[in-house]
Amino acid sequence: MSEPSIDDLYHRIGEAKLRQVVAAFYRQVPSNPVLGPMYPPDDLAAAEERLYGFLAQRFGGPTTYSEQRGHPRLRMRHAPFAVDVTARDHWIATMGAAIDEAELPVIDSETMKHFLFSVAHQMQNR
Ligand code: HEM
Repeated sequence: MSEPSIDDLYHRIGEAKLRQVVAAFYRQVPSNPVLGPMYPPDDLAAAEERLYGFLAQRFGGPTTYSEQRGHPRLRMRHAPFAVDVTARDHWIATMGAAIDEAELPVIDSETMKHFLFSVAHQMQNR
């Protein structure tokens, strides 16, 4: 048995579920005391679309993200933001709640969390 892969996660859960996760995350951002001030208040819908596009591509779906944004280079793109331990933990808690809300099959929610939380550690830059 091979480990569950993120490479076909998009096709396992489908576009609607992935959009639901990302929407649930961004719905919580404005009222979060740490994340709220970091994100562009009048560009949240576009930010939501960027994260959705990146994840869809990373999980084996359409490659629209790179067609529009180029190579993800996530460390570099996060450099302007002070991602310290507190911000990282708020991001992880918020995303964890968003994933739980979507009520995915446990194997898929755990696979998604494992990937996202490990990248969150890599984004810490302060
Ligand atoms: C560790 C805590 C994190 C914080 C505080 C954080 C914060 C931010 C902020 C403030 C933005 C700018 C919003 C925008 O205008 O798009 C952003 C963009 C983005 N973040 Fe994060 N982020 C974190 C972790 C992650 C993780 C784990 C991923 C992916 C697995 C991720 C993927 C992205 C993507 C794809 C963008 C848009 C990049 C672009 O094309 O410009 N972030 N993040």
